[in-house]
Amino acid sequence: MSANDLLAAIADVGADRTRGGYARHGYDAAELELRTWFVEEAARRDLDIEVDRNGNIWAWWGAPGPNAVLTGSHLDSVPGGGAFDGPLGVACALDAVDKLRERGFSPARPLAVVVFAEEEGGRFGVPCLGSRLLTGAIDPARAAALTDPAGITLAEAMGKAGVNPDHIGRDEQALARIGCFVELHVEQGRALDKLPGTPAIAVATSILAHGRWRFTLRGQGNHAGTTEIAERADPMLPAAATVLAARRAAASVAGARATVGRLIPTPGGTNVIASSVDFWLDARSPSTSDTRAVVADITAAARDAASAEGCELEVTEESYGDTVVFDSKLRDDLTALLGDVPQLPTGAGHDAGILAASVPTAMLFVRNPTGISHAPAEYAEIGDRIAGTAALVRTL
Ligand code: HGY
Ligand code: MN
Ligand code: MN
Repeated sequence: MSANDLLAAIADVGADRTRGGYARHGYDAAELELRTWFVEEAARRDLDIEVDRNGNIWAWWGAPGPNAVLTGSHLDSVPGGGAFDGPLGVACALDAVDKLRERGFSPARPLAVVVFAEEEGGRFGVPCLGSRLLTGAIDPARAAALTDPAGITLAEAMGKAGVNPDHIGRDEQALARIGCFVELHVEQGRALDKLPGTPAIAVATSILAHGRWRFTLRGQGNHAGTTEIAERADPMLPAAATVLAARRAAASVAGARATVGRLIPTPGGTNVIASSVDFWLDARSPSTSDTRAVVADITAAARDAASAEGCELEVTEESYGDTVVFDSKLRDDLTALLGDVPQLPTGAGHDAGILAASVPTAMLFVRNPTGISHAPAEYAEIGDRIAGTAALVRTL
C-alpha cells in the first residue's frame, strides 16, 4: 500500500469542517483513531507494536534491540493543520517497509517506525511532548498536570487512552536502544520549489531556537456602553500593542520570527470590556541569544502598554528549545547517498530535533510546492511523495 494510499485512507479523520484543515490533537478522538489505524497497518506488516511509557508507539521490524534504526514522525496536527505535517513521514515509513520487504531485504539491525505523541502541542500546549518526555526534556510532574482548554490533564487523557500516566518520564531503556533516528517530513517552506530542477528531497541541517510564552493581561471587566474611556482598564489594548510589538521586534532581528496566533479574551462578550486576555507568543531565531532578546523586547513593550492602561501583566515561558544542529556525519552520508541533494535549515520544530540531544538524528524533507504548512494549503505532489519513500528506502 503506497504512501499515497495510506494518506488517502486517513484523509477524512479529524477533518475540521468549521476551521478547515485538520484537528487531530493528543489523545483526542481523531488522534486515537489515527493511532488505531497505525497499529493496524503495522500489524498488517508483522511489525511488533510497543506503546512506551510516554505514549509513543513503536512498530518494530526485528526484536527491539541496541543500535536500532528509527524512522517515523507524528500523527497529530495543529488546529486547522494540513494533511502532510506528520502523517507523510509515517506513511512513507510504512511504504518503505513494504518496498524493502518486496526486494527481500531483512534488516541487519533492529528497525522501528515510531509515532510520537502530541508533537504539535495542539491540545496540551507543549510541542514534542512525547519525545520531550522520552528524553527527559520536560519534568514528568509538570507534563502530567498540563491541561487542555477544557481543563482535562494530560494524565487523565493518557489514562483514558489506555496509557498509564504514572510512569511518564525519561526512558533510559528506550533511548539506549536507539542507534539513530531519521524523520521524513513535508518541507515547510518553498526552498526546494525555488531551486533549479525543483528537487524532491533535501536533508536538514538545523532547526531554529524557538519557544512559547503565555501572556496574561488583567484589567477591569465592565460595560462597553456605560464605561467612559478615561475610566477603563481594558486588557485588549496592551494585548493589541503586544501583537504589533511582536512583529516590530522580530522584523528588527535577522532571521527572527514572532507570532501571536492564539488570543483569548475573558469573558469574550461583544458588549463587555474584557477582564483579562490570554495570548501565546511563538518566537524563534537562529540563536538563543537573539530569540531571548526578541522576547525581552516584546515583553518590555507589553509591560509599558499594560501600565499605560492600568492593567497587570504576567508572562510564563511554556516551552523552549535551543538551536538544533543535526548530526553532521548522518547529514552528509545521507546527502551523498541520496545523490547530493540540497541541505536545508528549518524554522519548524520536530521530534528529531528533541531526540538530537540524545542520539544521532537526521531529517529528510519532501518538496512542498505551496511552501505553506500548518494550514490546509500544505501540499506534496504525488511524484514527490513517491520520491520520499524511495529516499527512505535507500536510507534504511
Ligand atoms: O511548531 C513547530 O515548529 C512544530 O510544527 N511543532
Ligand atoms: Mn511536524
Ligand atoms: Mn507542525
